[in-house]
Amino acid sequence: MDNYHRRRSYSDAEESDVSGSESSSSQSKIMNTRVRMYTMLTVGTILCYMYYGYQSSGFRGYQYEIFGTVGTPNAVPAPHTTVVEVDVTKTLSTVFEAAPTSTPGKTDFWLANVEHRGLAPYHADKKYQVFRNVFDFGAKGDGVTDDTAAINAAIRAGERCGEGCDSSTISPALVFFPPGRYLVSAPIVALYYTQLVGDPLDLPVLLASKDFGGWAVVDTDPYDPPGRNWYINQNNFFRAIRNFVIDLTLMDPSSGVGIHHQVAQATSIYNVIFKMHDGENTKQRGIFMDNGSGGFLSSLKFYGGDCGAFFGNQQFTTLNLEFYNCKTAIYMNWDWVWLLKSIKIHDCGIGIDISNGGPDDIHTGSVLLLDSYIENTDIAIKTFRTKDSKPPAAGTLVIQNLKISGVKTTVSGWNEEEIFGGNERGRNTTIPFWGHGKGYSDHIPQGGDINVVADETVDAIPAAMKDAAGKILERPRPLYRHIVPDRFVSVRAAGAVGDGVADDTAAIQEIISANGNTPAGQKKKIIFFDYGVYRVTQTIYVPPNTYIVGEMWSVIMSSGSFFNDAKNPKPLFLVGKSGEEGIVEISDMLFQTQGPAAGAILMEWNIRSPQGQNVSGMWDVHFRVGGSEGTNLQSPKCIKKPDDQVDPKIDDDCVSAFMLLHIGKTASLMMENMWIWTSDHDLDAPKHEQITIYTGRGLLCEAELGPVWMYGHAVEHNVLYNYQLANAKNIFMGVIQTETPYYQSNPRAIQPFAPVAEYFDPDFEAACGGADAPKEKLSMCQKSWGLRILNSTDVFAFGAGLYSFFENYKTDCIAKRECQETMVTIDRDRKSDVVSSRSNIWLMGLVTIGTQNMASWVKDSEENEQVVVNVAALDGNGAGFTDNVGLILL
Ligand SMILES: *[C@@H]1O[C@H](CO)[C@@H](O)[C@H](O)[C@H]1NC(C)=O
Ligand SMILES: *[C@@H]1O[C@H](CO)[C@@H](O)[C@H](O)[C@H]1NC(C)=O
Ligand SMILES: *[C@@H]1O[C@H](CO)[C@@H](O)[C@H](O)[C@H]1NC(C)=O
Ligand SMILES: *[C@@H]1O[C@H](CO)[C@@H](O)[C@H](O)[C@H]1NC(C)=O
Repeated sequence: MDNYHRRRSYSDAEESDVSGSESSSSQSKIMNTRVRMYTMLTVGTILCYMYYGYQSSGFRGYQYEIFGTVGTPNAVPAPHTTVVEVDVTKTLSTVFEAAPTSTPGKTDFWLANVEHRGLAPYHADKKYQVFRNVFDFGAKGDGVTDDTAAINAAIRAGERCGEGCDSSTISPALVFFPPGRYLVSAPIVALYYTQLVGDPLDLPVLLASKDFGGWAVVDTDPYDPPGRNWYINQNNFFRAIRNFVIDLTLMDPSSGVGIHHQVAQATSIYNVIFKMHDGENTKQRGIFMDNGSGGFLSSLKFYGGDCGAFFGNQQFTTLNLEFYNCKTAIYMNWDWVWLLKSIKIHDCGIGIDISNGGPDDIHTGSVLLLDSYIENTDIAIKTFRTKDSKPPAAGTLVIQNLKISGVKTTVSGWNEEEIFGGNERGRNTTIPFWGHGKGYSDHIPQGGDINVVADETVDAIPAAMKDAAGKILERPRPLYRHIVPDRFVSVRAAGAVGDGVADDTAAIQEIISANGNTPAGQKKKIIFFDYGVYRVTQTIYVPPNTYIVGEMWSVIMSSGSFFNDAKNPKPLFLVGKSGEEGIVEISDMLFQTQGPAAGAILMEWNIRSPQGQNVSGMWDVHFRVGGSEGTNLQSPKCIKKPDDQVDPKIDDDCVSAFMLLHIGKTASLMMENMWIWTSDHDLDAPKHEQITIYTGRGLLCEAELGPVWMYGHAVEHNVLYNYQLANAKNIFMGVIQTETPYYQSNPRAIQPFAPVAEYFDPDFEAACGGADAPKEKLSMCQKSWGLRILNSTDVFAFGAGLYSFFENYKTDCIAKRECQETMVTIDRDRKSDVVSSRSNIWLMGLVTIGTQNMASWVKDSEENEQVVVNVAALDGNGAGFTDNVGLILL
């Protein structure tokens, strides 16, 4: 089990959470042989019989490398930066030893050792405590005392959002667990707007007692006795769980769940180890996720269990999950679209099971498996998709860069048919690309087998987007584990107020200017935003080499007339000026506007990370416009008015922003778990009414060189578009998610923002045929683009769930796919440097709802004719409630 002991070194332990680069692994060379997939599909079974036959007679000559399309054998990617992995090895002694190595309650982690000045300005209790240490509530962490009541008391203290509340942003709680073994006999109930955070230097263990009563050790959405959830699962936002071991091994193997995780956007589980019984009789599960709308999981390890992770959700992003000795590592109960990246599965029965529902009612929409490794496992992927299975597009599967070793069957089908063979133990085989589903391209505009569409010999992903091992780069969130408390600068101690009323512009700018822009060779300061709502009336400039971390999600709120001129838009946070280089890290922060704010751009990001350095980024940073206390963009003022003809009587006071995130020409940027949301309903008003507010644009990315990575990303409810790439290059998206504003087409997307050429705004008047076009046509056509790609190259979407649920707040349009005409549009003026014949745009796992055409583009042809290709949702792409396409390759 050498994998347990991954080499770690902290050469710069004080400074950084990162170290070591995973050296290029010694995988066997891929033969430059091409075998078309349809050939493989028909002969696969026979070849495998041959293989096993030959193997028993001692023959070793068979080359599995012929499977899949093939990468360039000797392409060693030039590293843009180092791969960074979370440090879980440090904690493994905690997992496998009976007693903790350190004194319970004693912690060296900065978060526990800085003074806590957080302030929840909208809470009625002026003494409301944001930060709580479970030891202050009586927890002992000695592995003997039952700590359940103390932990739940720490979570519940103060008036909080529990059963019957559904949502509230006014009562945040950051609950800290110092090292220790916490014996629990009943669920720890994670209330809405709670972060449960353990000491990452010595992971606290949540130890379920032998007689544990209840379902899950941590429950994010309990069921009441009649079986109703406390929180509506699709609205169960704003939660984090990180740095724990959850141990179920004292319990009987017949029951036990680590985390019941039934959540939506702006949620994460990070750096958690699940320890379960293994063997035939185990019924334990690390994560049980019944349903929800999005979220992000990363850096988790699962030992044992009936299944490590039981998953069900609309769209989800999972990185760096590692499984050992599970009967099934991942069981996909249902999904619309799911990214599994950097998954490692060792010694399991089944790796990933997407067969639920059987061939006549497949419950999995699509799964993208990227940069993963499966070893000593009987079946890597189990599917019941066949050429006749139903719904036709369900069970879509895309595999990119999967390494197998000792896998008996890579893809196993209905009736145990071997769709894709395996290999022998002790030997690595890489599958560069393989899919189950439909693809479209200029050459196959009518759609065809995904493997045929993707069949090419070059490795299409630019080196700039990858790490040294050839995987698409990830950089997990910094925890500043080894940085001493003295180097954290509290903004409240330094003069900012954070009460949602005081003007904090000058104080914040001064703190950032004084403590950011770390000179070369000096130790960095970390700017710590104690929880609060910081009202800002002018642009804040963030220079290169600045490090910012919030407490829970500390709020920066734009306010005033400076941000209310649509003709003269202004950024709230300006992260670097165009052309500036350096590192900026922002985590656990939240940005919003106080309305009206017709000229607010919540963030403009220009910083570029120097080559060979750790990339700049944002982790668990969310934008939430309107719908919460303090924003003035709430009900009743901005309550929905579906029965009034709004256009042209737009309420200027409900104009909420000009643009949310503008990624500039010179930028490069890593983003992980970001929810960029113009709200559709009120989170704080007791009835949580739907509201109509207007944000012009979602995310505009103009990064000319990139790279820009978006992991676990969503942009919702913006007037002109949610995502727009203009002249951009080297873009990774997985999974991204959008929703068209619920009020459109009342008013249509032409209101209330006039198109601005400088920002490449879509001109819906021109595109949809002008005022004399039929009204129904305009209503469907003049709707916010989910994704608009202009003159961009080297774009890789591994999962895009782009939804249009409404026509003026009514959902009748969904079934007929008549809420919107087209969701994705691609204009190409440029070819890629990597593949000179194309723009190198790969949209994989495109999943839409309510739109007639999933995507549309003009065919590239030599005859200069304008042939428009529309991928129609109802052209055999149905996957139940959603429509799915495996690949659009342009
Ligand atoms: C969520 O999942 C549970 C368990 O599978 C199911 O009972 C419930 O109906 C689901 N809720 C929704 C809204 O889909
Ligand atoms: C196969 O790949 C794994 C994971 O990268 C690595 O640990 C192992 O050493 C490799 N084995 C061989 C025989 O190359
Ligand atoms: C990443 O940053 C750390 C800490 O600043 C540094 O030690 C390391 O060398 C950097 N890595 C690269 C590849 O620049
Ligand atoms: C497309 O992008 C290239 C490179 O950024 C630029 O030179 C060119 O002007 C762009 N073309 C259009 C039509 O915008």
